Amino acid sequence: MNKRNTGTSPTVPARRSFLIASAGTVACLAMRSLFRIAHAASSHVLPPLPYAENALEPVITANSIGFHYGKHHKGYVDNLNKLVSGTEYAGLSLEKIITGTAGRPEKKVIFNNAAQIWNHTFYWKSMRAKGGGEPPAALKQKMEASFGSVDACKKELASAAASQFGSGWSWLVLDGSKLKVVKTANADVPLTTGMKPLLTIDVWEHAYYLDYQNRRADYVNAVLDKLINWEFALQNAS
Ligand SMILES: [Fe+2]
Repeated sequence: MNKRNTGTSPTVPARRSFLIASAGTVACLAMRSLFRIAHAASSHVLPPLPYAENALEPVITANSIGFHYGKHHKGYVDNLNKLVSGTEYAGLSLEKIITGTAGRPEKKVIFNNAAQIWNHTFYWKSMRAKGGGEPPAALKQKMEASFGSVDACKKELASAAASQFGSGWSWLVLDGSKLKVVKTANADVPLTTGMKPLLTIDVWEHAYYLDYQNRRADYVNAVLDKLINWEFALQNAS
């Protein structure tokens, strides 16, 4: 018995169209997946802490680091990824975003979040468990040449930290061949003024308030005496 095409089964051209459409859908989904993978690969990520959250105790507690790193630093990363998505800054390195947005009021929010990621990553490396003490000889010589003594350099760092009105950072930098201490407000970073950062101390209240409340000077002096990573500064000066 001959079967008749009743119109309920697809004809050959219809099947061909269906297959072509299906292949197109698969290709489209594959492209979307590739785009998502590429986008994820170019997103900024929260760098791991160079030590355990409790490694800096008792000077800075794990509770304080937990909030500072896990909430504040992570928040800047999450914000930046949202801010640059689909913009000319998507896929650019942090340094390129920072230098490309510095001094541009209309890009201030992007600058702030990018610079705060960079500053915090640099800050964590500026400290270590059982830090402080005598700097390596090569750094000590540079400090003596620029400040007169190691203590004078530490006093300048502490003074810059104490005198920064509101939020900011105290930095040891290399300006040409000379060491200097500078302070910056909010998210500002010496990178944008041609100076080379060697180490930094975060003096935003979120850096010390859980452990020291309003005693910023006590926090700064404890960091300089017991945590500061002179070896990191020397690596950056080389
Ligand atoms: Fe901070």
